[in-house]
Amino acid sequence: MTLLDVMLKRRSIRKYTDDKISDEDLNKILTAGLLAPTSRNRKPCEFIVVKDKDTLKKLSKAKKSGSDMLKDANVAIAVFADTKKADTWIEDSSIALTYMDLMAASLGIGSCWCQFHLRSSLLGKDAEDTACEVLGMGDNYRIVGVLSLGVTKDQPEPHTLDDIDKNKIHYVN
Ligand SMILES: Cc1cc2nc3c(=O)[nH]c(=O)nc-3n(C[C@H](O)[C@H](O)[C@H](O)COP(=O)(O)O)c2cc1C
Repeated sequence: MTLLDVMLKRRSIRKYTDDKISDEDLNKILTAGLLAPTSRNRKPCEFIVVKDKDTLKKLSKAKKSGSDMLKDANVAIAVFADTKKADTWIEDSSIALTYMDLMAASLGIGSCWCQFHLRSSLLGKDAEDTACEVLGMGDNYRIVGVLSLGVTKDQPEPHTLDDIDKNKIHYVN
């Protein structure tokens, strides 16, 4: 598959079977996150791999909406960043999440970005703080999002090149 094929195939997958992702595939996804570029090569991100069902459930409730899929995920990768290491932690974390999302798609594994940054929990608490508490991360750490992973239940249609809006491109010649 070319990179363009992977980009077309990549969709947000929120429903998973009970099957497990192999350690080999999980390691490839983590490798993609570690290969993501970071500003000034500061590498502020830490990747917390969550397989424990109870913790996945707690994470799914750490946000008011849009996080239900985490409770059914086979694995979730929470990307925390040390904000003291880089002021570009949001960008660095986002690129790592994107790299892992694309690697998952290339392996045929279902994945979905679950946003925590700027979101609140069911109880009105900050979703980032709640995720930090659930995963025992210290004060320096903030979280942009969690990548939810599992074996895809229903594969949606891939994107097509007809979906893209070329009016978004502006040339200055
Ligand atoms: C920054 C960002 C935050 C997102 N947050 C969530 C989320 O919290 N919950 C969710 O179910 N999907 C989330 N998504 C997935 C988007 O809803 C999805 O990418 C978009 O609808 C396009 O669909 P596609 O990924 O299938 O192409 C997020 C995606 C991005 C890029």
